[in-house]
Amino acid sequence: MSALRVSVDDFQEDARRTLPRAVYDYYCSGADEQRTLADNVEAFNRWYLIPRVLRDVTAVDLSVSLLGRRVSMPLCVAATAMQRMAHPDGETATARACKAAGTAMMLSSWATSTIEEVMSAAGDAPLWLQLYIYKDRDLTLSLVRRAEKAGYKAIFVTVDTPYLGKRRADVRNRFKLPPHLSMSNFSSDTLAFSEGNYGNDSGLAVYVAKAIDPSICWRDISWLQRNTQLPVIVKGVLNGEDAVLAVKHGVSGILVSNHGARQLDGVPATLDVLEEVVQAVQGRCEVFLDGGVRRGTDVLKALALGASAVLVGRPVLWGLACQGQDGVFEVLNLLKEELRLAMALSGCRSVSEVSRSLVRRKSLSSRM
Ligand code: FNR
Ligand code: LAC
Repeated sequence: MSALRVSVDDFQEDARRTLPRAVYDYYCSGADEQRTLADNVEAFNRWYLIPRVLRDVTAVDLSVSLLGRRVSMPLCVAATAMQRMAHPDGETATARACKAAGTAMMLSSWATSTIEEVMSAAGDAPLWLQLYIYKDRDLTLSLVRRAEKAGYKAIFVTVDTPYLGKRRADVRNRFKLPPHLSMSNFSSDTLAFSEGNYGNDSGLAVYVAKAIDPSICWRDISWLQRNTQLPVIVKGVLNGEDAVLAVKHGVSGILVSNHGARQLDGVPATLDVLEEVVQAVQGRCEVFLDGGVRRGTDVLKALALGASAVLVGRPVLWGLACQGQDGVFEVLNLLKEELRLAMALSGCRSVSEVSRSLVRRKSLSSRM
C-alpha cells in the first residue's frame, strides 16, 4: 500500500516520481536562480499566528463571496498551462475537482483543453479565464468572446509576461509540448505551440516572443474593459503604485502574484508585498494572492494580511499528476481542512473574524 499523503509536499514528492523529467522541471521551475521561488514559501514562516481562545469553535464557516459568487472557501485554483502533460484528463479533471470542492478555477489561455470543454466539466463551479494579450488583438478578443459565451465569470489578465522569464531547466530541456498535445484554444500549429522545432531554447520562450505583445500598457487594460462586460482583474501586481493605477483604471480586482516566481527572479515574496497593495487599494477592489501557498496556515496568514482569497498553482498540478480529478480534489480538500483547523485553533469562526491582529511579524533574531 502506498503511503498516505498528508501534506502538499507528499503530493509533490509522488508527482516528481511519476512525471517525465522535462514535465516536472517545467511545472516546478522558477526563473534564474530560483531565489524568489524559495522565498515565496519561506515568507509565510516570517509571521507568527497569535490565536485567541475560548471562542466556541464548534462550527467554522470557510465560505466567502469572490467577485460576486459564493464559494466554499477562500482558496481557488490558479491558471497553470498545459495540464494534460500531468494527466490525460488535464484541465477537465481540475474543473470537476473544483466543482466537487465548491471552489473557483482560473483556466489558462494555454490550456490543453478548450474553453468550452472545461465549462462542460465545471458545472456550477465558477470559471475565470486567464488572458494573455496577443499581438493579434482580434485573436485576443476571440478568446474573451468564447469565455463570455460559455459562461465564464471573470477575466484575469496577466500583466507580468511581456517576455517569458528564463527558466534554466526549460532551456536545457528545450522544453516543448509532447507531439500528441497542443494548446487547444488555437487552430494553427504556430499558435497552438505544436511546431516541431524551437531551436536551442525553451520552446515556450520562443512562442511568447513571437505571439505575445510586449508593448501592452494601462491603456490596453482600458481597451479590454471597453470590450467586455466581464469583471477584469490584473494578475501580477507587486506594489502599491501599480495597485493605485489599477484602481484608477477601474479593475474589479488585483492578483498579487509573481507568477509563481517564474518571471523576474529577485522580486519579493508575494506575502511580503500583500499589505502594501491592500493599503493602497483601500477596499476599492478585491485583492487576491498567489505564490507559495502550501498549507492551511499560509492561507490564514494571507487572509489576516488582507487578501480576499488565495490561489494555488503547483499543488494542483501535483494532485493531477498523482491521481487526476481525485488527486486535485484531495489537494483542495486537504488545504480546506487544514484551513478549517487553523481557523478553529485561532478562534476564528468565519473568514470575517480573521483580522490583522491574528498575525505578528517575527523579529529578525527569532528567525535564526
Ligand atoms: C503558471 N502560471 C501561469 N500564469 C498565467 O497567468 N498563465 C499561465 O498559463 C500560467 N501557467 C503556469 C504554468 C505553471 C507550470 C506554473 C507553475 C505557473 C502562474 C500561476 O498562475 C500562479 O501565479 C502561480 O503558479 C502561483 O504560485 P504557486 O502556487 O505555483 O507557488
Ligand atoms: C508559465 C506560463 C505558461 O509560467 O505562464 O509557464
